[in-house]
This record gives sequence, C-alpha cells and structure tokens, in this order.
Amino acid sequence: MTQASILVARAVFPETLDFLRRHFEVENNQADAIWSPAELRQKLQGKAGVLTTGSERIDAALLDACPQLKICANMAVGFNNFDVAAMTARGVLGTNTPDVLTETTADFGFALLMATARRMTESEHFLRAGQWNKWAIDMFAGADVHGSTLGILGMGRIGQGIARRGAHGFGMNVIYHNRSRLSPELEAECKARYVSKDELLQTADHLVLVLPYAAESHHAIGAAELAQMKPTATLVNIARGGIVDDAALAQALRDKRIAAAGLDVFEGEPKVHPDLLALSNVVLTPHIASATIPTRRKMAQLAADNLVGFLAQGQPVTPLNPE
Ligand code: DGY
Repeated sequence: MTQASILVARAVFPETLDFLRRHFEVENNQADAIWSPAELRQKLQGKAGVLTTGSERIDAALLDACPQLKICANMAVGFNNFDVAAMTARGVLGTNTPDVLTETTADFGFALLMATARRMTESEHFLRAGQWNKWAIDMFAGADVHGSTLGILGMGRIGQGIARRGAHGFGMNVIYHNRSRLSPELEAECKARYVSKDELLQTADHLVLVLPYAAESHHAIGAAELAQMKPTATLVNIARGGIVDDAALAQALRDKRIAAAGLDVFEGEPKVHPDLLALSNVVLTPHIASATIPTRRKMAQLAADNLVGFLAQGQPVTPLNPE
C-alpha cells in the first residue's frame, strides 16, 4: 500500500518525525522558515495531512488550492488560525491539542500575574542598569496577590487551573465570567463565583484573560472595558492577541487608568505594538505560556497521533469538526 504524504509545517522534535515517518511520507520544515501563504499552498500540493502551529492560516482559498488535503492537525489548543466552517464544508478535519497543556499554561498565567503585580521585570531592568543604590520604602512597591480578588474571563480548563491556583494556593477571592456557568461541583472545586462581565471588570484586582479568540471575542477588552477597571488593577492576557485592543491598552497603561499588564500574546504577533514596548508597567513575553519541553513534547505527539489516528486508522484523537 502506498503511504500517504503529509507536511510538517514547522520544526518539531526528532522523535515526532520518526514516529510520523513510520506511517507516512513526510516533508518537513525542520529549518523552521516562516512560509508565506503561497509557499504553504505549494508545499501542500499532493499532501493528505498537515501538522500546523497557530502561525499557519488554513482558510477557504488554501483548501480550494489543495484538494487532496484531508486533515489539519494543529499543535495548539487554540485554533483561530483555522476557518473551521470552510474546512467542514470541504470535508477537511481539524484537530487541536487540548488537556496536555492545561497545567503548564495555568502555571505560566499565574507566573505572569505575579511578575506583573510585583513589578519583577521592571525592577530587574533597574538593577541590571546599575541604578540600585539604596533600599527605599516604596521602591517598586506593587500589588498584593494573596488575599486579593482574582477575575477570570473565560473559564475553560486553563481558566479553572488558574482559579485553583489562586483560591487554594494564594487565598484569593475568585470570580469569573464565561459564556456558560460551571457546574456547582466545579465552582466549588475552583472556589469560583460567577459574575457578570461588568462586575468582573469593576471588582477584579487581577484580571486574567483565558477565553478563545473568535469574532465575538475580538477586542473584548477595549477602552470602555479598561475604563471600568480599578486604577490599581493588573490585566494578564495568555489567550490570544485580538482579544485586547492593544492601542487602547497602551493608552490606559500610559494614563495609569490601570496599574499594569502582563501580555504573552499580541495583535498581529510576532509584531508588538510600539506603544507597549515603550512602557515600563507592562511585562511582555513572546507567546510561551505552553512552553516547557515535556508539554511541547506532548503537544507534538498529540498532533502526530491525530494524523496517524485519522489517516492510518480512521479515528482522530481530538477532532474539532465533523468531517
Ligand atoms: C495554544 O496551544 O493555543 C497556544 O497558544 C500555542 O502555543
């Protein structure tokens, strides 16, 4: 039987390639070049499957140009780079990598919250620049995390992980807003109280965004929402860039409308709004919330398992859409 051909659109671990090569003919972008949409289209000719990251856009035009493509396996839990409706309409399966990154990403969300509230990067830059010459009572005084009110917008698995860390580890009063309420059991486990979005914005000392990006969540946090937040509040975004209006956020941070922000994701990344780069009350990281080696190994393996499960055995592990 001839093996199906697949494309691995970015660099992955050698063991992932070895595994895939046991089942498929594999073309791989191990040099990790960023391909243009036209290059991706060309590379996908004759391929039955592709392993993508969140950086490769799969849309109607690409699918129409690659009629042999049957499955796109995203190595990410988020899949806003996929036009799922266009895929479904053409009988192309999408898969993602839920669960395996939940705790790692929640760890990072909490680390970013702490670094932001306690001004860790700002104070480190000050020290490295040789500016530290005395102890001072209010030097880099930040906001308390323990005992404060933690607001979570988007209460999926990662949101729940952050709630547990806040409630059980730091004695925080946890409130959340989500499209749907958690079950009473899950609310009790996370010690989290459901509130309206307005109450969330107005009450949170630290607001963490963990909702998926979609048309409805585009600029869910803009000037009007930032204006509702406490001037002492911190905002943390580990979800997707387009959820926050970065220009409005930079303005709010400049005006001290809110105290600080921690951002792992950006509108139009890897570009970062220049106004954010110019501010000291924002902690900026390059989309690394899921980046630990064990977790990235699990994400790569799950994406590969989806390709093998579907193309070689007819059963994907974590499908997003009916074929
Ligand atoms: C995800 O899994 O969606 C992450 O953002 C990718 O790194």
